[in-house]
Amino acid sequence: MLGRLLEINGIDSVILENHSKDYVIDRVRAGVLEQGTVDLMIASGVGERLQREGLRHDGVWLAFNGDRHHINFRDLTGQSIVVYGQNEVLKDYIAACESSSHPPYFEVSDVSVDEIQSATPKVRFRKDGIDQELICDFIAGCDGFHGICRLAVPASHRHCYEKVYPFAWLGILATAAPSSEELVYALHDRGFALFSMRSPQVTRLYLQCSPDEDITQWPDHRIWKELQTRLETSDGWRINQGPIFQKGVTPMRSFVVDPMRYGNLFLAGDSAHIVPPTGAKGLNLAAADIRVLAHAIVAYYKTGKSEELTNYSSTCLRRIWKAQRFSWWMTSMLHRFGGENDFDYHRQIAELDYVTSSPAGMTCLAENYVGLPIDTPIPV
Ligand code: PHB
Repeated sequence: MLGRLLEINGIDSVILENHSKDYVIDRVRAGVLEQGTVDLMIASGVGERLQREGLRHDGVWLAFNGDRHHINFRDLTGQSIVVYGQNEVLKDYIAACESSSHPPYFEVSDVSVDEIQSATPKVRFRKDGIDQELICDFIAGCDGFHGICRLAVPASHRHCYEKVYPFAWLGILATAAPSSEELVYALHDRGFALFSMRSPQVTRLYLQCSPDEDITQWPDHRIWKELQTRLETSDGWRINQGPIFQKGVTPMRSFVVDPMRYGNLFLAGDSAHIVPPTGAKGLNLAAADIRVLAHAIVAYYKTGKSEELTNYSSTCLRRIWKAQRFSWWMTSMLHRFGGENDFDYHRQIAELDYVTSSPAGMTCLAENYVGLPIDTPIPV
């Protein structure tokens, strides 16, 4: 995303990726885009397939006590969301970058950064058996939670805030037509479940499990039984079943590093922050960071002023903490926490009852779900 925005503004960049191109575009991850992310893709000239194939959703359902309750984003906020897989987003960006003068370098290894506080920070890596060094103006650490960039910041300059949840999600993809036009988030006394989708032929489903869940203990019939139990509602709604072609366990964590900059190294996306997936904010937060960072870099080259670069971290973190709050809140409201007594469960049900019946409660969920405003314009 950053490489593309810089290229549009005539600024050279080099994108380094450890994995192969096939791995990146096949690895199924998140699937919900805020309008701000959709706008970024369209403005970057990579929104054509998204506009054709993305599934626009005007709301979501919350299910509890056996009933489904609709939250209508369009009525409440005038905005909606688009379901389009993160790997599809990557496919479109990679195609655009590959036709540029600087195609991404895939399958690089031994990446390290050095002299990040200097005016000429360096990135070293190995490609096709050859060691190479890049001398840059800026390094964008978009290398995920387990990447090397955050750890390149001295520990004394890294303030980390973290919450680990006592559960995970077991997620599947199945060849089955989605049985609802919109997502269904459910709290059941056996735990959380989520109905989502990827296309008119593919259903995406998740259920709360333990963080060390052994996936081999989950044959397909057990997964379907558990999903049907947690998701079925008294109006007769049921999920459609079909062959499962992907299974995985997603850990749940909230994490923020402050600041998101050290010298000329800028952290963006999961390298700087992780949200639990309840609320679908991860990819959208990364895209918002990139909008702010690209705008700041473009402003620097156009005007020579580095004020926006100086403000990058605080500008991003203000919105990130609100998304952290929302993701934590959705997670807390919709999961069973081990060892709790039924007070908490009843409180959670009451909260869902409030959120689905009060216009103020519904609006609070809706305006956060569709994405809080990003003040920075898209630099195109
Ligand atoms: C997904 O479709 O993968 C998805 C949707 C909503 C979420 C998380 C994941 O909150």
